[in-house]
Amino acid sequence: MTLPEITSQFEPYFLLSDEKLKDVVDHFRQEMEGGLAEFGKDVAMIPSFVTGVPDGSEQGTFLALDLGGTNLRVCEVRLFGEHKFEIKQQKYKVSDELKEGQARVLFDYIADSVDAFLTDIGSDISSNEPMHLGFTFSFPVEQTAIDAGKLLTWTKGFNAKNAIGHDVVKLLQDAFDKKHIHVRCSALVNDTVGTLLSRSYQSGPALIGAIFGTGTNGAYIDKTRTVTKLGKEKIAEAEQGGQHAGEFMVVNTEWGAFDNGRKCLPISAFDNKLDRESINPRKQAFEKLVSGMYIGEIVRNMLLHFIDSSVLFDGYSSNILNTHYGFDAAFVSGVEGAKSSDEVKKLIIKMLGVNPKHISEGDIETVQWATRVVAERACKLAGCAIAAVVLHTGNDKNTEGEEDQGVDVGIDGSLAEFLPGFFDRVREALVVVLGKESSDRIKMGLAKDGSGVGAALTALQAKKAMEKRTESHSSFVPGKVGTGVTGSGRQ
Ligand code: BGC
Repeated sequence: MTLPEITSQFEPYFLLSDEKLKDVVDHFRQEMEGGLAEFGKDVAMIPSFVTGVPDGSEQGTFLALDLGGTNLRVCEVRLFGEHKFEIKQQKYKVSDELKEGQARVLFDYIADSVDAFLTDIGSDISSNEPMHLGFTFSFPVEQTAIDAGKLLTWTKGFNAKNAIGHDVVKLLQDAFDKKHIHVRCSALVNDTVGTLLSRSYQSGPALIGAIFGTGTNGAYIDKTRTVTKLGKEKIAEAEQGGQHAGEFMVVNTEWGAFDNGRKCLPISAFDNKLDRESINPRKQAFEKLVSGMYIGEIVRNMLLHFIDSSVLFDGYSSNILNTHYGFDAAFVSGVEGAKSSDEVKKLIIKMLGVNPKHISEGDIETVQWATRVVAERACKLAGCAIAAVVLHTGNDKNTEGEEDQGVDVGIDGSLAEFLPGFFDRVREALVVVLGKESSDRIKMGLAKDGSGVGAALTALQAKKAMEKRTESHSSFVPGKVGTGVTGSGRQ
């Protein structure tokens, strides 16, 4: 088989037709609705118990912890009000042994990292008061309160034992208490929820917070009554401004698990290989086509297939190409951003370790083809996720009467930040699915540091709720459809 014959065989899985994009969005909406109606669905649609977004006036100093991206991050976040903040942070490596060992050991390591950080920055927090910490834990957690929730499943290379089904706030607090670290974990937040809050703090009310990084996921503001699985009683209580929520609720969709049932996603042989060899086969189907942890590996699977078919690099591989997860999304971004074929050749030599004598002009084009189609599919599917939420909330058109404020989407993650053409391609998918006019209403922007600032903002709300349990008012304002926050304390 010649190379064009091979590539054309695979293109339908990567260059998605308009019909395919619309089909994906239809299924997406169905799965979102399913997750709002029943517990235990793949797209879990988790109520976050955060019921509004900040208005930018919030102030205070908080610790934030961020687990779930490439590194563990510990931050001290100072919120100055007037949409301004400052972060001091330190990153700590999380080894594969920690990711896959006993959860207790992982949480001890996290507590030790917080301790080391506080020593390093010479924290000026008074020692009588415990410091409030917001924990950005970027995995699916069924939350029961703003500071309590059980881990449903691990994702993104984590597989620590004795954590699933456990309250992750308790695991962390026990580790702090055991080590006499004077920190109180007062809020648990998914990174997408953090991104939504951080975006709103910095640039006004947003509807969606999305992550396209190591993994992918999105959170948005919905009417609490739409979360029908909470049951009539809880919804009624919530709507009357009860203790646990308000009229609106930030919902963590967990869209990374969309189409685990494989009804509509374009899953190629390369994706199947990736899935089979992953530590969570048949899970996170959407995430495995879209996110930074996986797109390098899909390209690797493709290139190996071409090498084995003797149509690439004279049929010679390299140690890096032969290694599981041997290279990552940085290679895809590098090739996508390269200005000349010579630049691509240098990347192939440096990042893939291929012997230059086996690299022809045609090979360079093949590698460019592979990175292009994988990146193209990832971005278009990312656009489908955003479009599905916009349609679900009825925000494809202006429902506000007079002035059309449009819809704001805060985005964080390495793919959005570093993959050239990410936003343009997402926009193309939005135009296909929603039409030009609706798509033009959607404003997307990077909301960096979402997990740090968002965790701090949630910790602030939790602290206020704790101090003034009877007072329902806070400075949080309606998001697109939100109003007032009440974070319930630990149950
Ligand atoms: C997790 C989400 C998280 C996302 C982005 C996914 O693997 O399940 O909870 O928000 O990654 O970090």
